[in-house]
Amino acid sequence: MQGFGREVILGVGGGIAAYKSCELLRRLRDHGFGVTVVPTPSSLNFVGSATWEALSGRKVTTEVFESVEEVRHVSLAKKANFIVIAPATADLMARIAAGRADDLLTNVILASNSPILIVPAMHPEMWNDAATKANVATLRSRGYHVMDPDTGALTSGDVGQGRFPETSRILEEFSTVVGTRADLLGKKVLVTAGGTREAIDPVRFIGNQSSGKQGYAIARSAQQRGANVTLISANSSLADIEGIRTLKVESAHQMLEALESEFSQTDILVMSAAVADARPLQVADSKIKKSDYTNISLVENPDILKTLASLRKHQIIIGFAAETSENLEIAQEKMVAKGADILYLNDISGGDIFNSETTHGYILARGKEPQKVAQTTKDTLAHQLLDEALLQLG
Ligand code: C5P
Repeated sequence: MQGFGREVILGVGGGIAAYKSCELLRRLRDHGFGVTVVPTPSSLNFVGSATWEALSGRKVTTEVFESVEEVRHVSLAKKANFIVIAPATADLMARIAAGRADDLLTNVILASNSPILIVPAMHPEMWNDAATKANVATLRSRGYHVMDPDTGALTSGDVGQGRFPETSRILEEFSTVVGTRADLLGKKVLVTAGGTREAIDPVRFIGNQSSGKQGYAIARSAQQRGANVTLISANSSLADIEGIRTLKVESAHQMLEALESEFSQTDILVMSAAVADARPLQVADSKIKKSDYTNISLVENPDILKTLASLRKHQIIIGFAAETSENLEIAQEKMVAKGADILYLNDISGGDIFNSETTHGYILARGKEPQKVAQTTKDTLAHQLLDEALLQLG
């Protein structure tokens, strides 16, 4: 999804360490990145396209002369915010340093202006060869981030420097490459998560199915991007996130109260909690009788989002709408009526959103065409929403 800053091309060179890149791909996706794999033809001897397609959920090609009408190397290069080449062989680095473009991956690299992380893995003799050393120096001088391989035992049985680094070390390096864009640094982000409970009596309540996963994903993503995050969590069983101030509430009223005291110091408010629209008029002191169930009178809850929108100064407000139909017009009207700047229309028609790891729907933003979000992780959506909020915040 262009413009949202989370698109990665994973270039795979023809070395045995290609299989370790499968793990890297999975972790990148866990961190909310969309990954397109571009293997070199020789790397397919180690890991085939089917594996990459299954793990990335995307089509994989190695050929420049496939789908020529799409000018694939240019469109891939434009779409990518980051390129990771793992593993990079001595030959692949030599080709990049020489400016060759003899397969799809090297074409994409030449056509791209995005930050590129190179993770070499090869036999120590090849790593220490003068030609490889010169190529690495050239690449570094041109701004490529080239990691040093680990030292240890190699597949050949030899010991030395040339091992593919542990995934955690690659991710650390990658986050410093990405982290140059800690774009929420100094911003205050307030997130609501979970679902409110409206007491009927001491043991019963009106509640909903919200797990809090989406709100927690937003809080975590904002924190990763440098924001100062406060999370208002309603009845979620998820574990607290280290470094995030979390206020626990139960009812819509408690949520409103907590938000009112936080809102003025906030830059971005994300209302991902499912708030009950109504509550029992009276809360019984003791457990009500079966016969009283049909006599519970309800009273409307305040619309929290709308209330806060009326108090806003510079804040950007993101709302959520869980709908069983994809009616974009109704959602657009809801966004305006509530005073939200951005609204995520969560398509729950398949019943697969609550407590699920994935989501799909539409991002609506004022003055823009709705943007379809195909099935993706809640982390990815979190980053997409934060990107949009930042754009609007200017
Ligand atoms: O009207 P609807 O419930 O579909 O709106 C959903 C959005 O409004 C969510 O962002 C939710 O957090 C917020 N909301 C609210 N107060 C309510 C009901 C919903 O802030 N009483």
